[in-house]
Amino acid sequence: MAKDYVLPSLKDARKRDKNIADTAIFNLDEKYIELGKDKKYYIVTHGCQANQRDSETMAGLLDAMGYQTCDLDKNADVIIINTCAVRQGAEEKVLGEIGALKRLKMNNPDLIICIAGCMAQEEETVRIIREKYHQVDIIFGTHNITSLPKLLYEVYTTKQRKIEVFSKMGEIIENVPATRFMNHKAWVNIMYGCDKFCTYCIVPYTRGKERSRNKDDILFEINQLVKDGYKEVCLLGQNVNAYGNDIGDYSFADLLNDVAKTGIERIRFMTSHPWNFNDEMIAAIKNNTNIMPYIHLPVQSGNTHILKKMNRRYTREEYIELFDKLKKELPNFAFTTDIIVGFPNETDEEFLDTLSMVEHCEYDNAYTFIYSKRDGTPAASFEDNIDHKVKEERLQRLNEKVAYYANKNNQKFKDQILEVLVDGLSKRNSNVYSGYSKENKLVNFTGDNVKVGEIVKVKITEVMSFSLNGKLVEE
Ligand code: SAH
Ligand code: SF4
Ligand code: F3S
Repeated sequence: MAKDYVLPSLKDARKRDKNIADTAIFNLDEKYIELGKDKKYYIVTHGCQANQRDSETMAGLLDAMGYQTCDLDKNADVIIINTCAVRQGAEEKVLGEIGALKRLKMNNPDLIICIAGCMAQEEETVRIIREKYHQVDIIFGTHNITSLPKLLYEVYTTKQRKIEVFSKMGEIIENVPATRFMNHKAWVNIMYGCDKFCTYCIVPYTRGKERSRNKDDILFEINQLVKDGYKEVCLLGQNVNAYGNDIGDYSFADLLNDVAKTGIERIRFMTSHPWNFNDEMIAAIKNNTNIMPYIHLPVQSGNTHILKKMNRRYTREEYIELFDKLKKELPNFAFTTDIIVGFPNETDEEFLDTLSMVEHCEYDNAYTFIYSKRDGTPAASFEDNIDHKVKEERLQRLNEKVAYYANKNNQKFKDQILEVLVDGLSKRNSNVYSGYSKENKLVNFTGDNVKVGEIVKVKITEVMSFSLNGKLVEE
C-alpha cells in the first residue's frame, strides 16, 4: 500500500547542489480521467503570483479529470487552499479558514479538503494541521502539485488522509495542463525556486533551488498565448535576473529579447533582485517597446548594516547607484519596491535610512511589511529587542512617505491619455471599468462599449495616490 505520509523537512529543504535540475514530462494516468465526473472544485489562492500560477495548474489537472469549477465553497466536492508562508499573518488567516471549513465538512462528509502551497512545506504547520484539523484530507507541497490526481484517487479508494510533501531541491515538469483564470493576461513561469537565502525569508525553503525552464518551452508557451489572443505576459521568478545561470549561456536579457519578438503586446517581469541587474538587461528593456515601462526593485532596507544582516548582497550605495542608472536610462518608467521595517534590532537611525531611501528614489509605490519571524530561517535566531509598537509606528511613518511620493508621481498623469488594458468592471463601482496602464497604474474609468481584454485610451481626469480616474477616449 502507498505510504500515507511524506512529511516536510526544513533541514532537507535548505540543501543545494550544482546539478542542472531534471526536466520531466507530465502525463495524466488514464485511471484518473473520469474521477471528477459530476463533481465540482473550489480553489482559494493566497500569496504571490507563483501561487496564482500554481492554482491554475491545479485547476488544469482537475479539469482534465472531469471536475468542474464552482463559485461557492459550499457547492464544492473538493476544496483546495493554496497557502502562503511568507509572514505569520498570512498563516493565521489560513488556519482560520481551515477552521471554518469544519462546518461544511459536517454537512457534507464526502467533501475533500486539501491544503497546498508554501505552508504545506513547513514542519510545524503540517504538525498542527495533522493534530488539530481533522477535516483536512490531503496536504500536498509545492513540489507535489502533479500528484494531486493520484492523491485524490487514493483518498477516494482508501478513505485515509494523505500527506505528500517533498523537501527536495526540485525538478521542472513540462506538459502539465493549466486552466488560466484570465483570458487576456497570463503568468508565465520562467524559473522556479530561490538560492538567495535572505536571512528573513522562507521562500528558498518552500520553493527549492533556483532552476530555469528551457527557453524553448517558455517561448512555445508564449507563442501559444499570442495565438490565443493574450495581450500581456508576466515572466515569473523569485529573481528573474538569475534566469539561465544554472543551465548555460542564455541569459535573462536574451530571453527578454526573444519574448519581445513573439509580438505579444505587453511584457512584464517579476521579481528583479537589485543584485545582478546588468547592462544587457537594461538594453533589452530599453530596445523593446513591448516591454512595459515598469520595474519592481525590492530594496527591503535603506541601511547597509541591516542589508548585510538580511544577506541582501548590496549596500545602500550600490542600490542607489543602480537605481539612479535605471532612472537615467529609462526616464519614463515607474518604479516600485518592497520594504521590511522592524528587522531584528533595527535602530531608529537605521530606520531613518530607509525613509531617506524612499525620499531619494521617490517610488511610485512600495509594498511595506513589518518583519515577521519565520521558523527555520537564520533571522529567527537573531536577538530582537524592538517593541512591536515601535515597529507599527515605523510602518505608519513609512506608509505616509510612500503615499506622498505615490501621489506626487501620479500628478504627472493628470489630463494625459494613457493606454489601459481592461481587466473588467471595477470592484467598487459597477459602472466603472478598471485596468492597468503601461506603467502598471490602476486606472478606473467610465465609457461605453468597453471590452474586457482590449487596450483602450483613457483620459485621466482625477489623480489619487494609488489609482487614477478617467474617461474612455472615443476613437
Ligand atoms: N523574491 C522576491 C520576494 C518574494 S517575498 C524578492 O526578493 O524581491 C515578497 C516580499 O515579502 C519580500 O520582498 C519582502 O519584502 C517580504 N518578506 C519576505 N519575508 C518576510 C518576512 N519574514 N517578514 C516580513 N516581510 C517579508
Ligand atoms: Fe526571499 Fe530573498 Fe529569495 Fe526574494 S530573493 S524570495 S526575499 S530569499
Ligand atoms: Fe508566499 Fe510562497 Fe509566494 S511563501 S509569497 S506563496 S513563494
